Amino acid sequence: MTLHNSIIRQSNPHLPFGDRQDGTYYGKNILSVKQFNRADLTFIFEVAHEMEEMVRRVGTFDLLKGKILTNLFYEPSTRTSSSFTAAMERLGGSVIPINDVRYSSVSKGESLPDTIRTLECYSDVIVIRHPETGSAALAAKYARKPIINAGDGTGEHPTQALLDLFTILEELGHVDGLTITMLGDLKYGRTVHSLARLLTLYNVRLNYVSPEILPMPAEVIEEVNAKNISQTVTTDLAKVLPETDVLYVTRVQKERFEDPEVYEKVKGSYVITPELMTRAKDDMIVMHPLPRVGEISMEFDSDPRAAYFRQMEYGLYVRMALLALVLGKA
Ligand code: NCD
Repeated sequence: MTLHNSIIRQSNPHLPFGDRQDGTYYGKNILSVKQFNRADLTFIFEVAHEMEEMVRRVGTFDLLKGKILTNLFYEPSTRTSSSFTAAMERLGGSVIPINDVRYSSVSKGESLPDTIRTLECYSDVIVIRHPETGSAALAAKYARKPIINAGDGTGEHPTQALLDLFTILEELGHVDGLTITMLGDLKYGRTVHSLARLLTLYNVRLNYVSPEILPMPAEVIEEVNAKNISQTVTTDLAKVLPETDVLYVTRVQKERFEDPEVYEKVKGSYVITPELMTRAKDDMIVMHPLPRVGEISMEFDSDPRAAYFRQMEYGLYVRMALLALVLGKA
């Protein structure tokens, strides 16, 4: 049997999580949150809890010893790339870091399929962030190894949505019945595109608050609507803040604007301050995928409702769980 055939026999990377027929997560891609059902989430979060426990107890352990991850980032990243690196290293594996494609053969004009076909010779899983929507799916088409979408342009950011959901569960104990308000750049923000879709697996109410020119895309609204989830669209945060259980704040995505003047006009539309938050519930939380660029004032950081730094730590455990699952070790 050739090397190629033996890998194909062991895994079918094109089977989505939710459609897996072999009862295993081994070899699967993570491209979109649409792949997941509630049973998947329960299982992933159980494994994430085990990871948290292990990190607390022993720090690093050898579950993925000998496995190699490639981090292929065509866009800037601090949290996603370093948390995947930390996740892999906590599990005893190692990482090929390509955090600036300018210094790789991409700058010589190499195509994405060729770059993927190269890197999969040297690694067992590839995490990719790329400015074009659909790029992770394209990479998966050419890859024999699992591809994890770490953000495809304005499309999706599924691992962020998984860690966001894990954060809500850890902080508030449940998701059903919550009112979740997404605030900021809902047009270009891929994290909210993924999170809104993922939340349709629960019984929630969604509020979308954005400047008029940065609304949640119609495509996402239609998909959420098809799952009978109540959605409210407004530009007025004050209207929905008192009923909000989770305020999910996002940055206005400067790099997606064609006209910098338009960005300048909308960038400061909403700022979360301690004074504003006196109008919110005591037992709600404020989340943000980060980086923030002024939309949450630093004076709010010491408020117990500020969950955005804790959210980053939860992300490590969720990404450890995902790596262990797709590499067949959980
Ligand atoms: C987000 C992203 O890259 O989409 N960051 C992240 O992964 N934590 C959000 C953003 O850049 O605004």
